[in-house]
Amino acid sequence: MDLKKYESKINRVTSLDKLNELEVRFLGRNGEINKLLSEIENIPDEQKKTYGQKINQLKSSMYRYIETKKKELQNKKSDVFFDKTLPGKIYPKGSLHIISNAIEEITKIFEKIGFIRVSYPEVDWEYGAFESLNMPSGHPARDDVETSFIESAPHPRFGKMVLTPHTSNGQNREMRRVGAPPIRMINISKCYRPNWDTTHTPMFHQFEGLCVDREITIANLKGTLDYFAEKYFGKGTKTRLRPHHFQFTEPSFEVDISCNVCGGKRMGCKVCKSGWLELGGTGMVHPNVLKEGGIDHKKYSGWAFGCGIERVIMMKYGLDDIRNYYSGDIRFLEQF
Ligand code: PHE
Repeated sequence: MDLKKYESKINRVTSLDKLNELEVRFLGRNGEINKLLSEIENIPDEQKKTYGQKINQLKSSMYRYIETKKKELQNKKSDVFFDKTLPGKIYPKGSLHIISNAIEEITKIFEKIGFIRVSYPEVDWEYGAFESLNMPSGHPARDDVETSFIESAPHPRFGKMVLTPHTSNGQNREMRRVGAPPIRMINISKCYRPNWDTTHTPMFHQFEGLCVDREITIANLKGTLDYFAEKYFGKGTKTRLRPHHFQFTEPSFEVDISCNVCGGKRMGCKVCKSGWLELGGTGMVHPNVLKEGGIDHKKYSGWAFGCGIERVIMMKYGLDDIRNYYSGDIRFLEQF
């Protein structure tokens, strides 16, 4: 019960750790003060009140004393020599994800030739993903694009909601946004298709180019693809167009780039087998797509292409498993 006794103990302490220890020992839940308080049972009734008051006084004085001591110790200069000239600790820095870097790089390449980067909804109406792209409901081509539907009441004109299976849903939206050509769009967004293997993840990214103006031809398309291939994959990379079919382009192509591992020579190349690697889909915008976007297809023409971001990175660095992008393994990501 003697404050002096406690005071001298607190006074002798020279470190914050020791002071904390004492605080717990005196004032903690199972500390000495609480023990004294619990003895109140054994005190005769008429003395209980004064006893309680005394203990509480002791408690608050001790509390104040400890706080003062704490401040004193905190302000005390350390006796340990601190060498300010030593280099600091270097903590690892975070960085942008490989996909984000590629998006930035691709955006810059297209912005340089006057394209405008946009990002359209990743959840859209069937109209955006199909109807506006010359794929009326019930058309078998819609089955080629495996699509995840959102459970929702269908819109009377735009149909059900879907997780966009490609960035082509941006075509109609961009035509409507710009109003009258020229249009130079680079739309980069997430896309969704229910696949999961070494070259497919259910969520992936595409970049979609759209160019609409007077007298736009396949030559402009080829020139733009050549420009992109050289800038992104390196000098000397060639492109070629192979006939294909898409509902929203006519004529349609698949575009390949020359393999930069074997330089297109193919002999025994494990990466390409044929000297070429598939980049994506492309073609001249179908007149019905222009019409649906409110554009006079007699006055204007255009081209469009769509490529996977994950895919072009794999081609650039010769990666063989797309799932690495999303596994969260820092050792993989740090390499780029
Ligand atoms: N949307 C097509 C796909 O995802 C690619 C494409 C875009 C083809 C634009 C032609 C024109 O496969």
